[in-house]
Amino acid sequence: MIDLLLGLQWGDEGKGKIVDVLTKNYDIIARFQGGPNAGHTLIFDGNKHVLHTIPSGIFHERAINIVGNGVVIDPVIFKNEIDNLSGYNIDFKTKLLISRKAHIILPTHRLLDAASEKMKGKSKIGSTLKGIGPTYMDKTGRNGLRIGDLEMKDWKERYQNLTRKHLNMISFYGVELDFDLEELEKDFFTAIDALKELTFIDSEEYINQALAKGQSILAEGAQGSLLDIDFGTYPFVTSSNTTAAGACTGLGVAPNKIGDVFGIFKAYTTRVGSGPFPTELFDEDGKTMAKVGHEFGATTGRPRRCGWLDLIALKYAVQINGVTQLMMMKGDVLSGFEVLKACTSYHYKGKDIFHFPYNIEGENVKVNYTEFEGWKEDLTQMTDAGELPKNLKDYIAFIEDFVGVKVHIVSVGPDRKQTIMV
Ligand code: GDP
Ligand code: IMO
Ligand code: MG
Repeated sequence: MIDLLLGLQWGDEGKGKIVDVLTKNYDIIARFQGGPNAGHTLIFDGNKHVLHTIPSGIFHERAINIVGNGVVIDPVIFKNEIDNLSGYNIDFKTKLLISRKAHIILPTHRLLDAASEKMKGKSKIGSTLKGIGPTYMDKTGRNGLRIGDLEMKDWKERYQNLTRKHLNMISFYGVELDFDLEELEKDFFTAIDALKELTFIDSEEYINQALAKGQSILAEGAQGSLLDIDFGTYPFVTSSNTTAAGACTGLGVAPNKIGDVFGIFKAYTTRVGSGPFPTELFDEDGKTMAKVGHEFGATTGRPRRCGWLDLIALKYAVQINGVTQLMMMKGDVLSGFEVLKACTSYHYKGKDIFHFPYNIEGENVKVNYTEFEGWKEDLTQMTDAGELPKNLKDYIAFIEDFVGVKVHIVSVGPDRKQTIMV
C-alpha cells in the first residue's frame, strides 16, 4: 500500500518534520508534485535542514527516496541540496532515485516566472519565483524537457530551441529584467553534469514493482490543498495538483493502491504570498503567532501571514483528499492565548454557509467564529498525550467532531522528538 501525507492548508504545515518522523515505518519515501518552491524543515540532534526537492526520508538509512514524475526539478537547487548534505555520508546513487519523466526547470523558466509576476504588478501571485508555473506550462503545452532527455544525444539542441523561445517570450512581456544568461547557464550545465551522476529510473515501474513485493511507500506532498491548481484559491495557487489525486498521476499509482491519507494542519493558519485568507489577523494575536511560531518562509524567507484556524477550509481539504488521520502541528505556539477562535461558518451572499464557496476574496466572505478557552501550559517538553492540557484536548475534540476525522499526532515543537502520538 501507499500512504499519502498532505498539507491541508496553504503549505508549511510541517510536512517535512512528520515525514521524517514516520520514515522508520516505510521502505520508500516519494515526492510526487511541486518542485523547489517547497521548503520542508527537519530538525534533529540540534541540526536544522531545509529540503526543497529531496524527499524528507533521506536521513534514514533504510528508506529509498524517489523524486517522482510529477515533480519539476531545478538542477542547480538540487545539486546545492545534495552538496549541503555532504557531511552525512549518504550514498545518493542508491538512496535517491529520480524519475525519467520528471520535468526540468531551465534558467529561462525562472526568468519567465519573474517576467510574469512583474507584468501582473499589484495582482501578482506572490510566486516563489522558482520557475514552477512556466515549467508546468511547458509540460502541459508539450514543450518541456524531461530528466530522461538528458540521456539523449539531441538534448542540448532541444535545450537551445526552448531557451530561444523563452527569450522571445520574455521580450514579449516587455518588462525590465536584469540577468546574465551566460552565467546562469554555466551553473545550470555544471549542475546537469552532477545530476547525471545520480540514478534515473522509470519510477512508475519501480514503484509498482515495490508495491507488488509488499513494500510500503509514503508519498510526501508539497504545498497544501488550498494551493491546489484545481481546488485552491485560484489564481493564487501553485501549478500542480497538491491533493490526493496528484499522488496517482505524480507517481503512476492506481487509486486502489492508496492506504492511509495523513492530513496535516497547523493549530492556526498561515499563508505566504498573495491571495484571499478569510481568517487572517492584523492585530497583536497575529503578530504573536508569527513571532512565537517563527513564521518566515523556508524557501524565500518572506514573513508568513497568520490567522485563526479555518474549519470550513479544513473540512473542505479533508473531503477532497479523503483524509483518514489528522496531524495537528504547532499547538505549542498557541500556549498563553486567553481565547482561541476558529472559523465555523462563512457569511456569504447574505446568509451563513458551511462549505468553501467559489470566491472567498475580500468582501464576499465574512467569518463567523466559535471561541475556545486557551491554555497556559508550555507544551514543548510534553511527551505523552495524558499531559496535554484539558482546553487543548477540548479544542482538538471540537476539530475532530467538526471535520469527522481523528487527530493521531500532536506536534509540540519543531524537533523530531517533540511529537506526541495520541
Ligand atoms: P513544510 O513545508 O510543511 O515541511 O513546513 P515548513 O518546514 O515550511 O514550516 C514548518 C515550520 O514549523 C518549520 O520551521 C518547522 O521547524 C516548524 N515546526 C514544525 N512543527 C512544529 C511544531 O509542532 N511546533 C513548532 N513551534 N514549530 C514546528
Ligand atoms: P511547502 O511544500 C507555502 C505559494 C507561494 C505563492 C504560490 C505560488 O513548503 O509547503 P509558486 O512558486 O508555486 O509559483 O507560488 O504558492 N507556495 C507555497 N507556500 N509553502 C509552500 O511549499 C509553497 N509553495 C508555493 O508563496 O503564494
Ligand atoms: Mg514549507
